[in-house]
Amino acid sequence: MSRQCVVRKRPWKELISKLSVLNSKVLTMKPCLMALTLVAISSMSQAATAMSSKETAMSLKNEAVSLTKSLKAYFSTQFLVGSAINAQQAKRTEQDTDALIIAQFNTITPENELKWERIHPKPDTYDFSLSDEYVDYGLANNMFTVGHTLVWHSQTPDWVFEDAQGKPLTRAALLARMEEHIQTVVSRYKGKIKGWDVVNEALNEDGSLRDSKWRQIIGDDFIEKAFTYAHAADPDAELYYNDYNLYKPEKSAGAARLIKSLQNKGVPVHGVGLQGHYSLTHPALNELDDALTLFASLGIESMITELDISVLPFPSEAEQGADISQDLALQKALNPYPNGLPKAQQDALSARYKEVFSVFSKHHASISRVTFWGVNDANSWRNDWPMRGRTDYPLLFDRKNQPKPAYHTLMTTPVR
Ligand code: XIL
Repeated sequence: MSRQCVVRKRPWKELISKLSVLNSKVLTMKPCLMALTLVAISSMSQAATAMSSKETAMSLKNEAVSLTKSLKAYFSTQFLVGSAINAQQAKRTEQDTDALIIAQFNTITPENELKWERIHPKPDTYDFSLSDEYVDYGLANNMFTVGHTLVWHSQTPDWVFEDAQGKPLTRAALLARMEEHIQTVVSRYKGKIKGWDVVNEALNEDGSLRDSKWRQIIGDDFIEKAFTYAHAADPDAELYYNDYNLYKPEKSAGAARLIKSLQNKGVPVHGVGLQGHYSLTHPALNELDDALTLFASLGIESMITELDISVLPFPSEAEQGADISQDLALQKALNPYPNGLPKAQQDALSARYKEVFSVFSKHHASISRVTFWGVNDANSWRNDWPMRGRTDYPLLFDRKNQPKPAYHTLMTTPVR
């Protein structure tokens, strides 16, 4: 059976669940017995992790003491839990943030460090300084390390689409450039980056293909080419299609059509990433539920790749999504909590996280990971998108890295 047609079996879920129980017992043991038991648990964890590339994230060496107190442990029977990390975090410049990342998460995504504009700023210049730090960070901490992203219309320099005279490239020339970029970047991190967001945001809101420069110059098959090149560069890497607003029925239907067409052509695609830039009112839970059911029916894994829940008012319905080109000037009326989040809104955020996670939990069999887009509220891009200079509170940790009420709510809601 071809790899892209199955939701992978995850025997580790059962094993890790047993380990969690065992670990909570270990905490009450005498030190010498505890040490022996931890060694045994560590080997069992490692056996569990040998099962597939994804399970490497579960080899959590020093996990035993924090196993009952972290997001990654709490949801270990359901999915990996991760965060996007930025350049400072990959360089470990803030000690307490570093400790938080290591304690709470077992998968990471680079917020910007692997985007084309960072890694390949000029035709003959690659700069891997930050991306190398990022990948080393993931390896050092046994985290499932994600690559984000290979082909996107944003954060990609204009020169990519032009020849030396500034004229649009031919299809053949742009394909050659795409292949060279993917081959260079993916093979550099072969065996280290375990899953790639190969193509990001190729769909319009109505589910049709976005008329990006990639599509204009190459044609609709730019997507299958990108997946094929990525697979050639690292045949063991998981390959994902990633987009925002995939809970919307028309857009999720478009994503399903896209994935089916790749599958029908034998192009390797292993998962769909639902970005998850949400708010207190979006998405409607039934739509999210339906979208996850639809993607599971395709035999691929779903992942929540960029979760954050804004508590701020949206300037208009048009900004609901994650189009990074939206860059509105600050309006004070739309920045209601510059000095702290009132209790009522804090409670609303907790309730919202709880209901969104209840949908994730319902679909845990097909969800491989849930990744937050940022570690704490100070790091979140939502402070500046879609409007610059606001104070938002979209994550589970506050500006001092302290767990918020939403964190405690999730950690006390029984998982299915
Ligand atoms: C965002 C980053 O968080 C910002 O720092 C950057 O300025 C713009 O991009 N969808 C994606 C992410 O796939 O890469 C975007 O990240 C947010 C929307």
